[in-house]
Amino acid sequence: MDEMSFEPKILSFLCNWCAYAGADLAGISRFQYPPNTRVIRVMCSGRVDPAFIPKAFLAGYDGVMVLGCHPGDCHYLTGNIQAERKMNLTRKLLNMAGIESERLLLDWVSAGEGERFSQVVRQFIEKIRQLGSFPLNQEMRGKLHAVKASLEGEKIRWMVGKGPELLEKENVYHEHLPQEKLEEIIEGTIREELIKNRILTLVESKPLAATEISQTLKLKLNDTLTYLVSLVGEGKVGFDPSEEGKVPKYTRSV
Ligand code: FES
Repeated sequence: MDEMSFEPKILSFLCNWCAYAGADLAGISRFQYPPNTRVIRVMCSGRVDPAFIPKAFLAGYDGVMVLGCHPGDCHYLTGNIQAERKMNLTRKLLNMAGIESERLLLDWVSAGEGERFSQVVRQFIEKIRQLGSFPLNQEMRGKLHAVKASLEGEKIRWMVGKGPELLEKENVYHEHLPQEKLEEIIEGTIREELIKNRILTLVESKPLAATEISQTLKLKLNDTLTYLVSLVGEGKVGFDPSEEGKVPKYTRSV
């Protein structure tokens, strides 16, 4: 498909109180925007679960927009701040997995900004048109499943919810956790979760030796073994019984 004939498929999550009303106003005021987006109305941008993003790409969308109320205007006070935290973390995970995070947009549109709504939509569709269609091949599906599993996992959900609290609260030594330190912890945790979920996705389809996993994920063999030991300890990965006496192959435990 050439660039001219490519029509991006966009999924939009619009907050009921602002962006959805902005879209309505754009329609009434006849501000033009292309009909490429499928709209899901949510009560607040903070309601958008980060796992919806990889799910949308797996379902064949080329881009995802989350549009909420301007900072300070959220009907539920901090929903848009939570949305920002969730989408920033989702972008980090997408980047780490080698998926273009520009395909995810978070922006603010008020109920009175019909013209701005049509502008944001047009600009995003144009950006996705330049990026091209989402390359949904087998490798990419594996990456998206790993991103989705990481975002659904307890560790990352806990960090999204507790992040600000960790910054505000003192530890037992009456010290505050600096922002950079928190960022470092978040980076390390999401990297670890992503790699573990990529390993799980790989061994789910067929038993693999540590060397094969390390080559596929371009990871050092020692690091791969460390992750495998941890996954075996968590009961998520086991050894393939049919490979007894040969090089051990790892498989997904049920
Ligand atoms: S109510 Fe609109 S972003 Fe929260």
